[in-house]
Amino acid sequence: MLEKIEALLAEVAQLTATSLDDVEKLRIKYISKKGLIPSLMNDFRSVPAELKKETGIKINELKTKALEKINALRDGFATSDADDSDFDITRTGYPLPLGTRHPLNIVKSEIVDIFSRLGFCLAEGPEVEDDWHVFSAMNFADDHPARDMQDTFFVESHPDIILRTHTSSVQSRVMERQQPPIRIICPGRVYRNEAISARAHCFFHQVEGLYVDEQVSFTDLKQVLLLFAQEMFGEGTKIRLRPSYFPFTEPSAEMDISCNICGGKGCGFCKHTGWVEILGCGMVHPRVLELNGIDSKKYKGYAFGMGIERITNLKYQVKDLRMFSENDVRFLREFEAAN
Ligand code: DAH
Repeated sequence: MLEKIEALLAEVAQLTATSLDDVEKLRIKYISKKGLIPSLMNDFRSVPAELKKETGIKINELKTKALEKINALRDGFATSDADDSDFDITRTGYPLPLGTRHPLNIVKSEIVDIFSRLGFCLAEGPEVEDDWHVFSAMNFADDHPARDMQDTFFVESHPDIILRTHTSSVQSRVMERQQPPIRIICPGRVYRNEAISARAHCFFHQVEGLYVDEQVSFTDLKQVLLLFAQEMFGEGTKIRLRPSYFPFTEPSAEMDISCNICGGKGCGFCKHTGWVEILGCGMVHPRVLELNGIDSKKYKGYAFGMGIERITNLKYQVKDLRMFSENDVRFLREFEAAN
């Protein structure tokens, strides 16, 4: 009798089923009234008295194991074969808290979207860059202060490898592998060796634009930037260009927009001037074209670069730059509706 029980225990442990019907057959075979296990109970009467205790324990063990096994096999099919017509499998199980898009991402997408409608393609480059793409190819003199340790993060023991200080490096990355026409928009993170405060951070975000073709003029640049400003900040927005200097553009300019917080009347944000600076721009320096393998006699270009934090501040009046990287969900949730 004991051997029979042991054999059944081993058998039960190995049971498998490929459908609910199979499970039902196993149930009938082992545990239904006329099944193998209840019939063992009948034989129990003829077990000699001295073996009764041990045998009883074993039969009980077999009974529990068989029940457990058959229930487990049945559970395996329960969800897939559930035949409950009211059960809506598309319904969310419980209210799932959804995240929000980061304000800088919202604004970045908006900028990229405006320029894509003007025919600009998305381009990207590495954040860990070499000196050539960040500085030399962009016509920075060897002794330019931006190359200084004070301003730039270097990768230790590799004096040539740095964290890019501006997205202008992507201009060079694209020009070296593609001949004009080039019309790209390049968003990305940049790094500068600055003390962190409400108004400065050691990393921030920029969007770079570049257009190189046979007949590109400063007028084209101004027109595209005006359109951008009005799409971004509203139809009534005015722009003004002030002469400036960048090594990679000639002539260079900085662009202001009429302050969209006070509508140009003058407020704390625009320092009571009615204007706020939002970007740098200019005609690509012919030397930059040549350094990157483009014939400067045949082609001309314009470029511009702006800080995403600055545009976001103007749109949402975020007073402290650190809010963007602290991941305080109370701040991030404020942008729920802006998605
Ligand atoms: N790279 C400049 C910066 O980081 C921004 C800039 C100015 C980009 C003028 C341009 C440009 O493409 O034409 O401050």
